[in-house]
Amino acid sequence: MYIERLILKQFRNYESAMLEFSPYTNVIYGNNAQGKTNILEAVYLFSQGRSHRAKTDRELIRFGDEYARIAIDFKDSERSYNGQMQLLLKGRKSVSINHVHITKLSMLMNYLNVVMFSPEDLDLVKGSPSARRRFIDSCVSQMYPSYLAELIDYTKALNQKNSLLKILRSKGKKSDPTLEIWNEQLSESGAKIMRSRIDFIRSVNDSARNIQNEISGESLDIKYIPSVRCENISKEKFFEYLMSKASREIDMAASMYGIQRDDIDIYVNGRQARSFGSQGQQRTAALSMKMAQAEYINSLKGEYPVMLLDDIMSELDINRRMYLSERIRDKQVLITSTDTDLIDKTTDTKLFRISNGTVL
Ligand SMILES: Nc1ncnc2c1ncn2[C@@H]1O[C@H](COP(=O)(O)OP(=O)(O)OP(=O)(O)O)[C@@H](O)[C@H]1O
Ligand SMILES: [Mg+2]
Repeated sequence: MYIERLILKQFRNYESAMLEFSPYTNVIYGNNAQGKTNILEAVYLFSQGRSHRAKTDRELIRFGDEYARIAIDFKDSERSYNGQMQLLLKGRKSVSINHVHITKLSMLMNYLNVVMFSPEDLDLVKGSPSARRRFIDSCVSQMYPSYLAELIDYTKALNQKNSLLKILRSKGKKSDPTLEIWNEQLSESGAKIMRSRIDFIRSVNDSARNIQNEISGESLDIKYIPSVRCENISKEKFFEYLMSKASREIDMAASMYGIQRDDIDIYVNGRQARSFGSQGQQRTAALSMKMAQAEYINSLKGEYPVMLLDDIMSELDINRRMYLSERIRDKQVLITSTDTDLIDKTTDTKLFRISNGTVL
């Protein structure tokens, strides 16, 4: 799929702007603080229903204005879409696609798929396990809404269990029938979530390995580290595992085991990337994982998402940059940079110079 046109009105530092994109590489360049990332942010907002960095919609409206608008034209292999979004200083945002009002923002993902890679994504490798779980959960729920429903059920039961564990500890009790009930509910959704995570990580590992190898010649390995350790996970095994840890959980007054404690280990050339990887290796690994997400979306939807690459070239050496450019050549990419020399250009590449909220 690809984006043909983006129109901004009173969005961030743009009073009004229009960009007509190439279906291939688009380079958005200019000095710091001119509005490059703001463009990617607007596109991301249209795919995910929320910004990748703003806490509230109000931040997105140009200082001093009452509303902002985004319009976007995009195409997949079957049809063309026109999307409209209005953000209000006072009031909820409204979105429509082809004149049909979108009531649930999560529906947007059914239309425009994007994968964003920004400097903060280094957290995938260097950050806490929660950043990696967030990556898994957002990738899988985008493709399978039922996964999100399981996560919500799981979290509700987990909160209940945590409150119960605190009470049990304060009463000095070692077991309780209600704890079994919560553990049963957690096992029901937990086992399903684990199975989906296993499948997703297998798919991401397969593609990310190839991508990393292509970009850097390094070997990448992504391993699922589940908190509930057992072969061929099932609801029954999940439950048994939780019950075997019940007394420890009561002692700690916290849920110490379950999918809320899962992690993934990322190895580059056989060593843990977060401890031993160089900056460039870590960045390449995070990028390979994000590009693997694009492959995952394509394998399920038959459409490549649009890649939004925010300032990724500056830390990669010339070889990595070249292989990366090669890799993204035949798909639509919006890439920001302070320096166009860092990006390999072809006749299909379109350049946009951004200066103080104006597209030149
Ligand atoms: N709501 C807003 N109204 C007006 N201007 C805003 C608003 N939010 C952010 N800005 C301005 O937008 C600019 C930052 O835009 P952006 O993050 O896109 O920069 P950038 O070109 O990506 O810079 P860098 O190269 O440093 O990443 C800043 O000048 C900031 O003051
Ligand atoms: Mg930026």
